[in-house]
Amino acid sequence: MPGERFPRLFSPVNLGSLPLKNRLVRSATYEAKAAEDGRPTPGYIDFHRRLAAGGVGLIITGFAFPQRDGKLPRSISVEDDGCLTDLAKVPDAIHGLHNGCKIALQIGHCGRQVPLRVAREPVAPSPIREPFTDRMPRELSLKEIEAFINACAAAIGLAEKAGFDAVQLHAAHGWLLSSFLSPHTNRRTDIFGGNTVNRARIMTEIIKRAKSQVGDDYPILAKMNACDYVENGIEVPESLRLGKIFEDAGYASLEISSAMWETVTRKPEEIGWKAERIPEARRRIHSVADEAYHREFTRVFKQNLKKAKIILVGGMRTPELMEEILEKGDADLISLSRPLIREPDLPQRWFSGSNQKSACISCSSCLETLTEEEGLRCPLGSKQEIPENQARIQP
Ligand SMILES: Cc1cc2nc3c(=O)[nH]c(=O)nc-3n(C[C@H](O)[C@H](O)[C@H](O)COP(=O)(O)O)c2cc1C
Repeated sequence: MPGERFPRLFSPVNLGSLPLKNRLVRSATYEAKAAEDGRPTPGYIDFHRRLAAGGVGLIITGFAFPQRDGKLPRSISVEDDGCLTDLAKVPDAIHGLHNGCKIALQIGHCGRQVPLRVAREPVAPSPIREPFTDRMPRELSLKEIEAFINACAAAIGLAEKAGFDAVQLHAAHGWLLSSFLSPHTNRRTDIFGGNTVNRARIMTEIIKRAKSQVGDDYPILAKMNACDYVENGIEVPESLRLGKIFEDAGYASLEISSAMWETVTRKPEEIGWKAERIPEARRRIHSVADEAYHREFTRVFKQNLKKAKIILVGGMRTPELMEEILEKGDADLISLSRPLIREPDLPQRWFSGSNQKSACISCSSCLETLTEEEGLRCPLGSKQEIPENQARIQP
């Protein structure tokens, strides 16, 4: 019987009101395949159609921009109603396959990590220098934060109108929302800074305003850091408190990740502070023991949160391990990014009875070689050799 080798992986699950056919999620992955103005191109649509045909239960897109000064080049626009007709082609194409695959639009803003070519002046909750780009961001005013919250709520409304099954807010990895959550990057003394509730306010306000447009049932998800791996950053006791605030606010699911650009783009000796704690496995998976490098985090989230479904992302490569994690209750869903760049049909193969692990070696050369001209691809193709210049990047 198809799926019987991994019965938990291929069992259905609901994210709030959204039924999924299996527990495999395509984690948001920036693909640089939209048009310069943010419209989905035929290449963008084909890329996602291939993922859907590969058997994954839920695709989460790379992050779309509600404000253009916070975008990644050639990412998808959700700035205004003018995007709607073109945007609708994406969920239409996925649903047109009639294989039960669902699609969520990820929404985000680069904040202090914005590429120079997008914005000369990065913005952030507080002016804390970004070491990777070596730029000092400007502190957002209260009026600008209000405008950003409204833009995100409107973008969620737009995604729902366009036919996306859900949205995910990108509040991990040091981008703007993540930088509000973290005490390392948020030193504000107003209602958006200080204690945990205040730093979480941007997320609770967005969902409150979005729900007044899309209703209570529309699934709104979040991706967040359990740990920033920077001095004075978020650590587990506080990320759990944030998680509880988010589930009480109505986030249907939390995808648990870690780190910021400044953590993962520099050598451990440059980071200095407790750099040995950063999971080496995110750069290279040598064995099953290197996989699932956020499992300890999702386990405590599962033990402490009651409503939100918990998604484990990071280094997942072996289906037996995924099955065991679900069986032990350490996560509700398993998310994959790099493996599906190389092999979009992995879920289908596992569903058909294969137990061959992903060929992805987590070298991150997909990210290192990502250009606006070519868009996302695995430069190793089907080759197995490991490139010498192993990447350090985990966006
Ligand atoms: C090329 C590339 C682009 C990514 N873009 C995003 C993104 O837009 N949003 C996001 O939340 N994470 C992004 N990520 C991070 C992945 O979603 C995932 O958290 C990370 O790669 C670990 O999972 P993996 O080991 O399955 O690749 C990206 C990762 C890669 C390699």
